[in-house]
Amino acid sequence: MRRKLIAGNWKMNGSLVANQDLIGAVGAGLPVAHCAVALCVPSPYLAQAQALLAGSGIDVGAQDLSCHESGAFTGEISAAMLREFGVRYAIVGHSERRQFHRESDAEVAQKAQRALAAGITPIVCIGETLAEREAGQTEAVVKRQLAAVIHTNGHCISEIVLAYEPVWAIGTGKTASPQQAQQVHAVLRSQLAAASEHADRIGILYGGSMNAVNAANLLGQPDIDGGLIGGASLKAADFLAIISAAA
Ligand code: PGA
Repeated sequence: MRRKLIAGNWKMNGSLVANQDLIGAVGAGLPVAHCAVALCVPSPYLAQAQALLAGSGIDVGAQDLSCHESGAFTGEISAAMLREFGVRYAIVGHSERRQFHRESDAEVAQKAQRALAAGITPIVCIGETLAEREAGQTEAVVKRQLAAVIHTNGHCISEIVLAYEPVWAIGTGKTASPQQAQQVHAVLRSQLAAASEHADRIGILYGGSMNAVNAANLLGQPDIDGGLIGGASLKAADFLAIISAAA
């Protein structure tokens, strides 16, 4: 059975003081480890998160990384640099990066490759916009996004974590119903199965307004292997409730 993963995505939130409180509260309330837990923090806080999370059973995650290895790329952060801060997971291709930083499917696929080469598990985000869903293009869009990652990463695809995040559900309070999410997850699972004999190992997370109330139903679906949690990861009680729901 796949072990569930609950990953917090803090996005551009936090401060040294606030992080200490939040990490302290999450660590103190963490139930006996039955699922994997990670916190994807803003890069300037990686050293702080690494220090505070040491020995806690919670992994450190990043929110992005460069598709280049090193060199003249001002402002970029390489996979090797992230490794130095104990980073275990890196989100790649989040819809906010696809939208506001024009990241293409090919670039996202390269970022996943860079992460894997450095021993970091990429959490590859895919998902349709509301307009695409309403036009009946959901499957075509997510399959295209995943195909790029499969094409670039070949048999290493079994080492990624995938996150289905319908763009219309992110930060909006609108969640995909468990059935809507499961339907897409099943499509992704069969696409992965066609690409890798180890597809049954690949965790597929759901993300988009997952919260303490709806988590159990979503996480109860056969192909939903965890959650990528934005807003609710900024409140210790809510994040802990989601972790408990993954039991
Ligand atoms: P949300 O964000 O939980 O605030 O909707 C999820 C995400 O963007 O990963």
